[in-house]
Amino acid sequence: MSALAIIGGTGLTRLAGLQRIGEGITDTPWGQTSAPVVKGLMAGREVFFMARHGDPHRIPPHRVNYRANLWALKEAGADGILAINAVGGIHPAMGVGHFCVPHQLIDYTWGRAGTYFEDDLQAVTHIDFTHPYDQALRQRLIGVLARAGIAHSAYGVYAATQGPRLETAAEISLLERDGCDIVGMTGMPEASLARELEMPYASLSLVVNPAAGKGQGVITMADIEKVMDSGMEQARAIINSLIAGA
Ligand code: HPA
Repeated sequence: MSALAIIGGTGLTRLAGLQRIGEGITDTPWGQTSAPVVKGLMAGREVFFMARHGDPHRIPPHRVNYRANLWALKEAGADGILAINAVGGIHPAMGVGHFCVPHQLIDYTWGRAGTYFEDDLQAVTHIDFTHPYDQALRQRLIGVLARAGIAHSAYGVYAATQGPRLETAAEISLLERDGCDIVGMTGMPEASLARELEMPYASLSLVVNPAAGKGQGVITMADIEKVMDSGMEQARAIINSLIAGA
């Protein structure tokens, strides 16, 4: 893959170590992106970066213009996407600070603009989405995690919820019965839009809290932020190794 794009989520609004060489578009046929596409060099390779929630972090998950963000990355020349997602842990293996490279997802979001195939079509199009994440990119990522000795799960089912509120304990029990291992608010429609654009897409998910009812007491932003700083620092190192091809 020649030019990977990183979509940074909560906790990763800027990519330290990215040597900035330019800024791309914010205006697309689908509206405004969350932030300009940043073009840069990392480990001597060309990389694109998008702050999913804007820079500064201000756009909640249900208001992100996923269509514009992905379109702009493709337009800039990216030919693959690594999404960084902060998630809640459902499965007991998904403890706080753990990384997961999900292999499947279930979409519980609603009302989001989730397709490029809407109006003025030559033909109705249904993408294949049996395997929502790109296998080759996942394997590269898992290889980096394994070589660095970072605790991770090479499989997991990602539940995409609407937010911006966190879930109830009963909702998390339902997701668990559905087979979900982690829960986040930004995984969809990002993954399916990438598939519509024929861009390989994978997620590096960092568990920042036990999902509702899975930990002690309530979930506070302060607790989440404590994990976020060190976890996202690790995520930066993982991204660097991935890009370096290590
Ligand atoms: N639920 C949904 N999204 C999240 C969570 C969660 O517990 N933690 C971080 N993003």
